[in-house]
Amino acid sequence: MTASLNRREFARLFAVGGSAALLVHPALRSLHAATPAASPLRRLSAPDWEAIRARFIMPRELSVLNAANLCPSPRHVLDTVQSGTERLDRAPVPSFRDESFGAKEWVRERVAAYLRATPEEILITRNTSESNNWISAGLTLGPGDEVLIHADNHPSNNAAWKSRATRYGFTVREVAPITPHPGADALLETFRRAITPATRVLAFTHVTSTVGDLMPADALCALARERGVLSVVDGAQSFGLLDVDLGTMRPDFYSGSAHKWVCGPKEVGVLYVNRAVQERFWPSVISAYPGRVGISRTHESMGQRDEAAIRALGEQLDVLSEIGRGEIEARSRALTTELIDGLASLRDVQLWTSRDASRRVAVVSFQPGTLDPRKTLAALEADGIVAAMRGGTDRPGIRFSPHFYNNSADVQRSVAAIGRYIGSGL
Ligand SMILES: Cc1ncc(COP(=O)(O)O)c(C=O)c1O
Repeated sequence: MTASLNRREFARLFAVGGSAALLVHPALRSLHAATPAASPLRRLSAPDWEAIRARFIMPRELSVLNAANLCPSPRHVLDTVQSGTERLDRAPVPSFRDESFGAKEWVRERVAAYLRATPEEILITRNTSESNNWISAGLTLGPGDEVLIHADNHPSNNAAWKSRATRYGFTVREVAPITPHPGADALLETFRRAITPATRVLAFTHVTSTVGDLMPADALCALARERGVLSVVDGAQSFGLLDVDLGTMRPDFYSGSAHKWVCGPKEVGVLYVNRAVQERFWPSVISAYPGRVGISRTHESMGQRDEAAIRALGEQLDVLSEIGRGEIEARSRALTTELIDGLASLRDVQLWTSRDASRRVAVVSFQPGTLDPRKTLAALEADGIVAAMRGGTDRPGIRFSPHFYNNSADVQRSVAAIGRYIGSGL
């Protein structure tokens, strides 16, 4: 637990109206079948995935393979958001408001510990879009400067850089995606060749949302450092899924959202800003109620926040740690391997995602024969399967993204559905 607020204090803080309903993640108990009650954070057994699944309110017959877009939250996240909001509205007294506000620092410590950074480097934002936009809005760039982006980045990254380039006169150059993933060395070499003496920023996505490519983030950040270039890592598809270690990766910026792989609350995000660049980074929003440590003192005064939701992020990160970050990644990867093998065995499936587990994690994009992606998505929904689609002409089709709450039955059902649609048409 943290130096400033231990778990018991936290529990007291969020006791509802003095009732016995302490809001300290009940999910921390019984996630592991044989874990002794006396030491809830010590893992002696494999996670009980069915018990973990039971904490989500989505019905068992709904197979939700859409973590890359929006992850459902488990019951305890909903409870924390609901009860914190209710308590505030029932008695918006200064003492509770102060306590809620102070709990943000507890959450910052959880985020920092989770990402292996320091609280002084963490901003609590509203989502990855906001974090990415703060980065492109907060750096001073002008004519003669160049920002190198991966074309597979999200619009909150690339469209924002392009808009700012138009306004401030710097240049944006894109590295085209290579599909299928050519391997870490080839990607690194591609970026190495693309960097020029004018390059000031390299912005890429840790795991691409388009086809799920795992980028060699540590090596790309090292390359940027070598060349005196700032590194921007969009972690929307890695935060909560991969065991991210920013201490090793050493990016200048890393962004993420709570509502994706973290399975946390909606509209809470994170932005890591390496100490080394904080002096060069301007705040985008200036208002009241800044944070209390490090960069949050200057860059996180955003007025009234949804503190109940922010608090739920801190709790959920503890729950993920209790389940086991490695275990979560391993399960998502195993389900993805099953999925990708199943899809590859079907006639006429064009996989956009690499089958090589070192080149992808848990996002799988593919074109099912000649089927229209929109109709396929609708058919999946009608069959109780939640996916996402890619329209247009650039690697179009369906995207599945399984997470730890899924199981083999979800995967098999999804593969069978795609096989049926290809076989009989839609
Ligand atoms: C790589 C990437 N970056 C940014 C975002 C934006 O995330 P949010 O909607 O949480 O702001 C997404 C959303 O899918 C994404 O996949």
